[in-house]
Amino acid sequence: MKKIKKAVIPAAGLGTRFLPATKSIPKEMLPIVDAPIIYWVVKEAAKAGIEDIILVAGRGKSAIENFFDVSYETQDQLEKAGKAELLEKITEMQNMANIISIRQKKALGLGHAVHCAKPIVGDEPFAVLLGDEITVSETENVTELLCRSYQETETSTVAVMQVPQEDVCKYGIIKGKETQPGEFNVEDVVEKPAIKDAPSNYALPGRYTFSSALFKYLENAKPGKNGEIQLTDAMTSLAQNEGLKAVTFNAKRYDAGDKLGYLIANVEFALQHPQLGKSFKEYLLQLTGSLK
Ligand code: G1P
Repeated sequence: MKKIKKAVIPAAGLGTRFLPATKSIPKEMLPIVDAPIIYWVVKEAAKAGIEDIILVAGRGKSAIENFFDVSYETQDQLEKAGKAELLEKITEMQNMANIISIRQKKALGLGHAVHCAKPIVGDEPFAVLLGDEITVSETENVTELLCRSYQETETSTVAVMQVPQEDVCKYGIIKGKETQPGEFNVEDVVEKPAIKDAPSNYALPGRYTFSSALFKYLENAKPGKNGEIQLTDAMTSLAQNEGLKAVTFNAKRYDAGDKLGYLIANVEFALQHPQLGKSFKEYLLQLTGSLK
């Protein structure tokens, strides 16, 4: 069984929800305390044994590539100033994985973005991590869980989580048979259904592992919801022809592509920060005490 060593991170969106901040900065580069969103996503993939990250980016996203590259001036200055800890953190970021970048020339949808990675993925199985979703786990992370499931079952496996009924319209929603608690054989995937049409309330949080067979279904996918080539439509074909599993996970997920989710991630990461955590907590307690 082939090990999953490649991950695709689609990061070609225009970040309209974060305008004007994203007019000149990719949303994936917005910081969660002191490291950009994309750092946390790549870190999750690297811990799962991913060696090559295929970044599917649009125009104006070179800041992401630069972030994972060597920054001679800064590193030289840190070395001369004896700031070993910071230097080590920066070097760790550069060495997490190989970053390979490919352009999505037209914003035709998430399915199209994933398909852009085909020349680099080839016929290997691969993971997909959406570039604006962060997950945090105490032990095995979500991508590790999916890679392990893929390797054990030789079946494409995606993460699912239960969401309140009123939120099903924000996600891809699966229909499946529960084979054991928290594990499903997927039969259908519906992109952002209305509550009345939702086959369940198990939603896709943006973490997937696929066999390379997905590409042929992406090639044949017609524009779906909102006129876009949807990853979920190709997933339905994959489920019906090759099999697709969905598993629940034990991790906290932050939708950092949403303003409220982004703020929540910043507050919670700041509370956990080794240097800032204590004083930030004191400040929050003081603030909440004075809030009416
Ligand atoms: C995308 C996918 C959707 C998935 C969601 C997770 O939608 O199309 O299936 O559930 O990400 O956040 P988007 O949020 O990009 O509109």
